[in-house]
Amino acid sequence: MNHKVLSLTFLLALSVMANAEDKNPPSPEVMKRGQAVYSRTCIACHQPTGLGIPPVFPPLAGSEWVAMGPSVAVRNILHGMTGPVSVKGTTYNSMMPPVAGLSDGDIADVVTYVSNSFGNSGAVVTEDEVKAIKAKYADRKTPWTAEEFQKDSK
Ligand code: HEC
Repeated sequence: MNHKVLSLTFLLALSVMANAEDKNPPSPEVMKRGQAVYSRTCIACHQPTGLGIPPVFPPLAGSEWVAMGPSVAVRNILHGMTGPVSVKGTTYNSMMPPVAGLSDGDIADVVTYVSNSFGNSGAVVTEDEVKAIKAKYADRKTPWTAEEFQKDSK
């Protein structure tokens, strides 16, 4: 093999490995911890099924907002969200208050849990990623809107 082919093969192998890592399902321990946090902090509104109570509390199951990636749920937890927002064809015009009392690890666990439960399949979020999102939006004081998430879901 010449040099170019060799390095291409190497790059390909790397990207396949990186992809495989992205698609790794969360560990049972993380899911268990995430479920415990969910049961303490989200369940009253979003329900054990993740289906919410339309048209008051929106579903997380099959939600296009959860599917946008973990930053949306993390920012909801940190700063809250105010309507209107359309979730699976129903408009919600309500308010989610910031969820107090969670560590960065708790937030990582619960967002991983929500992203991989109720028929959702998404990312595994780490504590470091939560810290980075928190730092990026450190100046944020008001709840998020759907419009803002649409403009920037990272
Ligand atoms: C007091 C009730 C309440 C609690 C507790 C709550 N939420 Fe929410 N959540 C809402 C409401 C209401 C909205 C929609 C707000 C709006 O109208 O803009 C929402 C919206 C969301 C959304 C975006 C819309 C969707 O349906 O996907 C996500 C993601 C979300 N919540 C995740 C969570 C997670 C994770 C927790 C727990 C850590 C949690 N929420 C706790 C009431 C709540």
